[in-house]
Amino acid sequence: MNVKMVREFWRMWGEEEPEKKGELPRHVAIIMDGNGRWAKQHKLSVSRGHRQGTEALREIIRHTDDLGIEALSLYAFSTENWRRPAEEVAALMQLILDFFASEIDELDEKNVRILILGDKEGLPEKQRETLLEAERRTGGNTGLRLNIAVNYGSRAEMVKAVREIAEEAREGKILPGDISEEMISEHLYTKGQPEVDLLIRTSGEMRLSNFLLYQNAYAEFVFPKVLWPDFTVEEYDRCLRAFGKRDRRYGGREESGT
Ligand code: IPE
Ligand code: IPE
Ligand code: MG
Repeated sequence: MNVKMVREFWRMWGEEEPEKKGELPRHVAIIMDGNGRWAKQHKLSVSRGHRQGTEALREIIRHTDDLGIEALSLYAFSTENWRRPAEEVAALMQLILDFFASEIDELDEKNVRILILGDKEGLPEKQRETLLEAERRTGGNTGLRLNIAVNYGSRAEMVKAVREIAEEAREGKILPGDISEEMISEHLYTKGQPEVDLLIRTSGEMRLSNFLLYQNAYAEFVFPKVLWPDFTVEEYDRCLRAFGKRDRRYGGREESGT
């Protein structure tokens, strides 16, 4: 983490960087929730709400990149979201295409590395191809790690990991005793990335809804009440400041430093 950047961040808000704390998270995860309620509030269609949500998304990605945060994971479509009306699902699928069509050049230019979390095989061909192409095109980039969860479910991700590990054991490559926390991490979509430090869920709901259960083990949670389309950079900074003031102990004692 860039020390100057961290100091500047706090100064911008007229606050001294809290001693010992004050760090920006390495990995932020966001459950972008509230598009439906936003649409209702504005007497617009749900699809229009989702479209408005992508405007917020653009700003938040930009700001995350500007702050020099290492990784950003965004929950865009869960394995459970297929239960929604066909029309809404179709609108969300279209938004995926539109989002990448309009953003990929800028993201690539900014050295952002895109990774899709979730089962791409379960998506329509066009969406699958678009997502694969975004991953291919930005795979060699070394800047912000932008993880977009599409057709993602944390339990499904764990099942996938366990199956892969079981296969290695069956082939005699590993013994059951070799299985470690690190090995499990290495079989998750987020392999090689830091664990989630800060989880934000907008709209006031306070649940994980099957998002990054393993990776969120020691994350700090912030639940701003605003609906996702109303989530601004200022609101985001408030969440980051709240994070900086948290006392993370990981089960230890603060005095002993562990
Ligand atoms: C989140 O907004 C976006 C997705 C799930 C794709 P919602 O559509 O869940 O918004 P609410 O919860 O109905 O307000
Ligand atoms: C979680 O939100 C999924 C995404 C934001 C993509 P939902 O709105 O689908 O979650 P629940 O149904 O309220 O738990
Ligand atoms: Mg919701």
